[in-house]
Amino acid sequence: FHLCLDSADLDALRTCLPHPLVHGVTTNPTLLRRAGLRQADLPRLVETLLDWRVRQVQVQVSCAQTDEMLREADGLIALADPGQLVVKIPATREGLAAGAELARRGVPVTFTAVWAPEQALFAAMLGAAYAAPYLGRMQDAGLDGLAQIAQMQARLEGSAAPTRLLVASLRSRQACLDVIALGARAITIPPALFAELIDHEPTRAAERVFLADARADD
Ligand code: E4P
Repeated sequence: FHLCLDSADLDALRTCLPHPLVHGVTTNPTLLRRAGLRQADLPRLVETLLDWRVRQVQVQVSCAQTDEMLREADGLIALADPGQLVVKIPATREGLAAGAELARRGVPVTFTAVWAPEQALFAAMLGAAYAAPYLGRMQDAGLDGLAQIAQMQARLEGSAAPTRLLVASLRSRQACLDVIALGARAITIPPALFAELIDHEPTRAAERVFLADARADD
């Protein structure tokens, strides 16, 4: 299972990293903008995250035509060792073509902003590492996001491809548990939600008692 953090905000990410549970960090132009960063800041961002021992950084292209995406991807891939940089590409007609070419060259690709079950099938057909559906945004649009994601998962399980669903736009602990129950093999969540998943007060309370008992023995 791959647990990723969905943020470009180094202050927020620093509260979570390094941690062995975190497989990677996913970004996109919106997250960069929110963090006050530009595409030009990506080299420093990627370097910092790799220093914080994430196994992969997912960086999104910022253009819409297939050939432009491929050119931009070449620059992104050069920011890290092979396999450490996953190129995120919106699952548009043009994006699918660009991602197919990158996957053919052995570059890990995430097709993002996936809404429909057939897009997950296409991601598998084209050899993508991940297909990223946006649960919260589907629900915002009045769709039954969990049912859509269950269908995507079924398409992937029915294919021989190693493509994983990387569910994004997760806004609550319950949403995470729901998509994990559907069989999703990766999620990407904001740092604040990571804290909710990893820090459980009853566990801390039990630890406090253990520590007090250990001290009482001294
Ligand atoms: C994914 O790439 C997006 O950053 C993100 O998951 C969207 O989340 P939101 O719909 O809660 O903004």
